Amino acid sequence: MKAIVYKEYGSPEVLHLAEIAKPAPKATEVLIRNYAASVNFGDLMARNFRAVSPSQFNMLFLFWLIGKISFGLNRPKNPILGSAFSGEVEAVGSAVTRYKPGDPVFGYLGESMGAYAEYFCLPENGVMAIKPANMTHEEAAVVPYGAIMALNLLRKAQLQPGQKVLINGASGGIGSAAVQIAKHYGAEVTGVCGTPRKEFVQSLGADHIIDYTVEDFSKNGETYDLIFDILGKITFARAKNSLKPNGILLYASFKMKQLVQMLWTSRAGSGKRVICSIAPGSLEDLNSIKELVEAGKIKGIVDRCYPMEQAAEAHRYVEEGRYKGNVVITMLTR
Ligand SMILES: NC(=O)c1ccc[n+]([C@@H]2O[C@H](COP(=O)([O-])OP(=O)(O)OC[C@H]3O[C@@H](n4cnc5c(N)ncnc54)[C@H](OP(=O)(O)O)[C@@H]3O)[C@@H](O)[C@H]2O)c1
Repeated sequence: MKAIVYKEYGSPEVLHLAEIAKPAPKATEVLIRNYAASVNFGDLMARNFRAVSPSQFNMLFLFWLIGKISFGLNRPKNPILGSAFSGEVEAVGSAVTRYKPGDPVFGYLGESMGAYAEYFCLPENGVMAIKPANMTHEEAAVVPYGAIMALNLLRKAQLQPGQKVLINGASGGIGSAAVQIAKHYGAEVTGVCGTPRKEFVQSLGADHIIDYTVEDFSKNGETYDLIFDILGKITFARAKNSLKPNGILLYASFKMKQLVQMLWTSRAGSGKRVICSIAPGSLEDLNSIKELVEAGKIKGIVDRCYPMEQAAEAHRYVEEGRYKGNVVITMLTR
């Protein structure tokens, strides 16, 4: 079988198409014949993790350290990237009851990755579900990562219909799903993104768009019940101006300072608060997302598809910031 492998950290050119052994499922595993994998923030980060310093890393130092150990200090330990996929069950282990060959499935492999491959195995109780029938495999592959993160994190803010929400980073993997989910919850949504992706964020259903290159939302006088900051770009001190009296600043990316602010602001029981949270990437969340997709509440928006042979080009396209929506690598099995 073919897989896109990388044996050293670096620029997109480290990605190569290679022939590797096709895996066989263990008793409780499912063998996936993969059709499509999305290119996400985590793939780009892991591809060049050696060059990522703790200050460039948007998360706690501890997570950077864990990343160094799990991805590999000088060379990648796991040669295959890719965390979100859509494909078909090719074969099942002897004890598998949930799936059968031929089932169309989509899912999320998390930090263990491995979806840039024609075939891979995962446990039948892994983060995988029957693919929504109203999506192509390419569309289904771009949904799991951002949507399960966004849903899980937004739930922690207990969003209510009619509330005003600002999503800082609305055009990315998590933010583009957050816009759609917040709209589904009945919120009035403002999406913050760069100039090239304003129309894309509008197409997701955002009520208002702010281009962060021309306007600082913390200075325009508007206030929100929730500010969801995907990259941890705004400080609590600045966000306070834009929060309503009991407003929440929700961080998807945070360091120790934001954690301390969370503890500090939660002590009062009321007032403006900080929430920092980690989404586990769970099967429960994927099943909720599947329902939202089937109800037409979440779309998987594909900008470009690249065949496996052009994986480096796909990464370059994302890295250069030219994308409007999600980028997909399609497998030769498609
Ligand atoms: N808490 C959790 O459980 C969890 C889980 C997964 C990931 N994460 C974190 O989430 C982050 C990745 O999110 P993602 O996959 O959505 O990333 P992404 O796809 O790269 O999107 C990043 C977004 O941030 C925007 N952005 C860039 N500079 C900005 C600025 N100065 N002000 C406002 N917005 C700006 C981008 O807008 P333009 O592209 O339009 O410029 C884009 O919308 C990482 O930091 C990761 O550690 C957290």
